[in-house]
Amino acid sequence: MVNERNFELRESPLPEPAEGQALVRNLFVSFDPAMRGWIEDRPSYVPPVAIGEVMRAQGVAQVLESRHPDLSPGDFVTGTFGWQDYALGGGRGPLGGLAPVPKDVPLSWPLGVLGGTGLTAYFGVLDVGEVARGETVVVSGAAGATGSVASQIARIQGASVIGIAGGERKCAWLREQARLDGVIDYKSEDVGARLTALCPKGIDVYFDNVGGELLDQVLARIAEGARIALCGAISGYNDPAGPRPPRNYLNLILRRARMEGFLVLDYVARFAEAQQQLLDWVREEQIAHAEDVQQGLENAPRTFLRLFRGENLGKQLLKIADPPLDG
Ligand SMILES: NC(=O)c1ccc[n+]([C@@H]2O[C@H](COP(=O)([O-])OP(=O)(O)OC[C@H]3O[C@@H](n4cnc5c(N)ncnc54)[C@H](OP(=O)(O)O)[C@@H]3O)[C@@H](O)[C@H]2O)c1
Repeated sequence: MVNERNFELRESPLPEPAEGQALVRNLFVSFDPAMRGWIEDRPSYVPPVAIGEVMRAQGVAQVLESRHPDLSPGDFVTGTFGWQDYALGGGRGPLGGLAPVPKDVPLSWPLGVLGGTGLTAYFGVLDVGEVARGETVVVSGAAGATGSVASQIARIQGASVIGIAGGERKCAWLREQARLDGVIDYKSEDVGARLTALCPKGIDVYFDNVGGELLDQVLARIAEGARIALCGAISGYNDPAGPRPPRNYLNLILRRARMEGFLVLDYVARFAEAQQQLLDWVREEQIAHAEDVQQGLENAPRTFLRLFRGENLGKQLLKIADPPLDG
């Protein structure tokens, strides 16, 4: 299990922006289970964070000083600013890898419901899961940042949606705020028996954030032509052996089903379309989204651990400053 002693707090002089760069004040930091993989020395979709480097993380920041033609002091931007108070952004591309924060949305939303997790939910449900009206959809990690949005997008498509989450607080949120058709507390209930009861015609789509035992319970109950969207497998992220392999995959053959992994990064060309739709759904109150906002950069390691202890409801964020400049 990753722990607080894996990190240390260091101070260093403020960096000077070079030509084409901007100095930013980091305001909100995003915490994502994928970061656990980034500190593992093994091949992945991004290089590992080296020992002694600043921990990589997405953030929302305000530009303090700019030597970039398209960035001005006061602008709000998202980018990979890491676990640090100040960062340099820019360099390459139109905004040098930074994206402007839309003017009329709260500063935290581009890290959550309009950011990586909301987008993952969108493409996972619609493109990979191909959820259709009347189908039965199961989502694990359902009260987390990705799962909570995924389960509601499936509900908007007209599916009957069952969310699996840990603990009564999260299950109550899924029933009352996310308005799901059924909820299973995997920490206190017999998941297999509950899935059988709640999905009498079998499971058409499984949006899997967790892997391991829950994946097997679902595989045992898939319907003919089912789709399993493999989004993540957090149950194995702190296990050197990785997640427990599925046993019931023979059902993929018997039920002519498919199980497919995906990375949200592959959908960059469609992010704008998805963000607009997500924003519309939030404004129409079709999607409820929760944020768990911790405070203070010194609490970054502790905030990271919340993901693996199941302490977060919705998107895990850390607020490290208020905007220093007037918009
Ligand atoms: N494929 C992609 O492009 C992509 C992009 C973003 C995220 N993801 C994946 O999506 C998943 C969710 O990410 P997120 O950012 O939205 O995090 P999150 O769901 O907001 O937070 C993680 C949650 O996972 C649950 N969890 C932790 N350890 C667990 C365990 N051993 N067994 C079962 N559940 C456990 C906890 O909820 P409970 O209290 O309910 O246990 C915890 O709150 C992760 O697997 C992540 O890697 C994939």
